[in-house]
Amino acid sequence: MSEAALQRGVVCAIVGAAVLTFVSLLFIVAPYGRHARPGWGPTIGARAGWILMESPSALGFAAIFALGRHRAELAPLALCALWEAHYVHRTFVFPFRLPATSRRMPLAIAAMGASFNCANAYMNARWISDLGTYPAAWLADPRFVLGAALFGLGAAINVRADGALLRLRREGGYAIPRGGLFDLVASPNYFGELVEWIGFALAAWSLAGAAFALYTAANLVPRAIAHRRWYRAQFAEYPRERRAIVPFLL
Ligand SMILES: NC(=O)c1ccc[n+]([C@@H]2O[C@H](COP(=O)([O-])OP(=O)(O)OC[C@H]3O[C@@H](n4cnc5c(N)ncnc54)[C@H](OP(=O)(O)O)[C@@H]3O)[C@@H](O)[C@H]2O)c1
Repeated sequence: MSEAALQRGVVCAIVGAAVLTFVSLLFIVAPYGRHARPGWGPTIGARAGWILMESPSALGFAAIFALGRHRAELAPLALCALWEAHYVHRTFVFPFRLPATSRRMPLAIAAMGASFNCANAYMNARWISDLGTYPAAWLADPRFVLGAALFGLGAAINVRADGALLRLRREGGYAIPRGGLFDLVASPNYFGELVEWIGFALAAWSLAGAAFALYTAANLVPRAIAHRRWYRAQFAEYPRERRAIVPFLL
């Protein structure tokens, strides 16, 4: 099998996984964080779980990228920098901001996340640094410029919202977050994450990037809906008009 055929196969597998994930998560809420519950096998500390789960995205991506023929070219390097800016933070900064009281995560969740991230890192790194073609002029293409700007905006929303939630958590448990995008949606951190990967898909203009953006939506939309359901059940005063993830829409 040629590598181009393998790449197409992985893209199709990720799209298939997105459909399966979306449908499953509408019925079964992933059992970590506030939705943690017994019956999912051995568990691992939240910090270790996040590092284990996300390491393939940070380290695996970097290793595969470094093997590609285009690894030293400007545009692939710029796309790599966007990816790594997100994943170095997610793998090596975010877990250390989690409060000590964070609930443990089922090992199965960390393992499933890590497996997905291996396939996703391979698919995107290989495309950017070898199978795809990105001349330096791509950096001035409106798709790259708009995509990179969306990525930066999404990252800022995501990190800021995560920071606010982590502060609440450290200050004494769960509470209704207020202010900014929190007044519009239950999970602005997920909204930011989604904007980031839509931006990345635009900047890379690849099926690999689009498949990952689709998977992110399939994963985070049902979880944001579950979060909003949880807020409504926990807090009688939770504002009814807040959407789950996309302001004014969803
Ligand atoms: N690309 C993807 O497919 C994907 C998938 C999953 C996550 N992520 C990203 O990973 C990050 C973390 O995800 P997550 O699912 O853990 O997000 P989350 O459920 O919003 O929780 C984020 C952190 O804030 C705490 N928290 C949330 N709401 C709170 C509230 N109302 N009061 C007090 N504390 C609160 C949580 O504590 P507890 O954990 O103890 O509840 C957790 O420590 C996010 O940036 C997300 O976008 C990406």
